[in-house]
Amino acid sequence: MQQFQQKTDITIKNSFLQTQFIDWRTQPKSFKTYPKFFRRYHLDEFEELKFIKDFGKITDKKVYGNEEVVLRVTPSAGGLYPCEIYIQIRGIKNLLSGVYHYEPLNDSLTLIHELSNDGLEYYFETDSKKFIFLISNVYFRTSWKYENRAIRYLLLDTGHQLGAICSALKKEAIPFDFSFNFNKKRLNEAFGFEEQEFFQGAILVDNGKDTKYQNLRERLVTVSSTDYFIKNPFLEEFSKLLENLIFDEIKPLHLLDDMDKKCIQRSIDKRRSIRAFEKKPITKEEFDFLTKDIFERSKSLGIEVFFINNNVKNLELGVYKNVNLISKGDFKGLSTRLAFNQKLGESSCFTLIFTSKKESNLFQDYIISGFLAHIINLRATSLDIGCSGIGAFFDDECQRNLKTTNNILYLQAVGR
Ligand SMILES: Cc1cc2nc3c(=O)[nH]c(=O)nc-3n(C[C@H](O)[C@H](O)[C@H](O)COP(=O)(O)O)c2cc1C
Repeated sequence: MQQFQQKTDITIKNSFLQTQFIDWRTQPKSFKTYPKFFRRYHLDEFEELKFIKDFGKITDKKVYGNEEVVLRVTPSAGGLYPCEIYIQIRGIKNLLSGVYHYEPLNDSLTLIHELSNDGLEYYFETDSKKFIFLISNVYFRTSWKYENRAIRYLLLDTGHQLGAICSALKKEAIPFDFSFNFNKKRLNEAFGFEEQEFFQGAILVDNGKDTKYQNLRERLVTVSSTDYFIKNPFLEEFSKLLENLIFDEIKPLHLLDDMDKKCIQRSIDKRRSIRAFEKKPITKEEFDFLTKDIFERSKSLGIEVFFINNNVKNLELGVYKNVNLISKGDFKGLSTRLAFNQKLGESSCFTLIFTSKKESNLFQDYIISGFLAHIINLRATSLDIGCSGIGAFFDDECQRNLKTTNNILYLQAVGR
């Protein structure tokens, strides 16, 4: 696994070679759409299912020249949105029990398979579930721009997507379990992905029934998730490895328990990535609220979080490992340098750096880092504090300055 980290690092040396020009006109389509003749249901027709809109709905629009770009509930590296969501639903009145594809563009579900004595539970080796939410990656959407480094962004985007699903479920007080160890290989085949798309993770909601189901009785129709496709052997190798990897079990994390339904909904609807900070400070109380339980939980999940304090009042300036100050001083310049010279680094109140030990489960650590970053993003939004994920950073400079051999996974700038 470690080779996937090494082969995708950005170092001072190799950054000079990365001068590729991006022609945005060639960006592949970022929405998968099943043909018109598939049966569709608008989520507004089902009170019990409206929360699904919070997984990926459009929350803003931007115009660049003649192009209109839509922004969603989830952030995404480069705004490329590689995640698709499939949902198996049982026992909702006036809705066929089936496997659906979620379409964020029109807040609807497309029925792609009607269930009888078969079900996705078979691939999870579990009994009947009310909902199975599955996240896939359409890798070319991201490799189109980021080439091999796309593997990192796919994992981080998946973590954010999990965060968005969990926050919507939390808001509705629906208990759930994470699942990463299902039969991904067989499911990828059953969904007709043809190696262009692959499953990463799932969230299960129980229905208290112990019925067992057969494997899907037919292979689902193959529908292309982009308008064109360029194969990438490195990404294919990555997806094959993912199919066979055993992840650690993750228990529900209870990270939004102190926010009520209205507050979570407001954060979901208003979350954005900040483009520039005004360099105003935040208080220590705000810092504590933003990072509540994050250091503790991440440690228990094998993630080591460092942060650089640039502008939190009543907290000593410097570099911290978890909550311990390891280097005193003003490190604003360093924050920017580490963040691939992006000003977000130094103008933030603090910049988090998610890392994990070399021997740990690298891919899962990326997903968890994206997930935790998403929770922080929602918490920050509730205080009208800005936030942005930073996927472009110097791996070697981060390691050197943090005096760690850990893999560097993700940076997150937070401030106002
Ligand atoms: C994994 C990941 C990496 C990102 N890296 C950067 C980055 O290096 N610099 C930056 O300015 N924004 C970065 N972003 C923010 C995206 O550009 C942003 O999410 C996207 O444009 C959509 O905008 P929104 O988050 O406001 O909805 C990143 C986001 C994610 C999820």
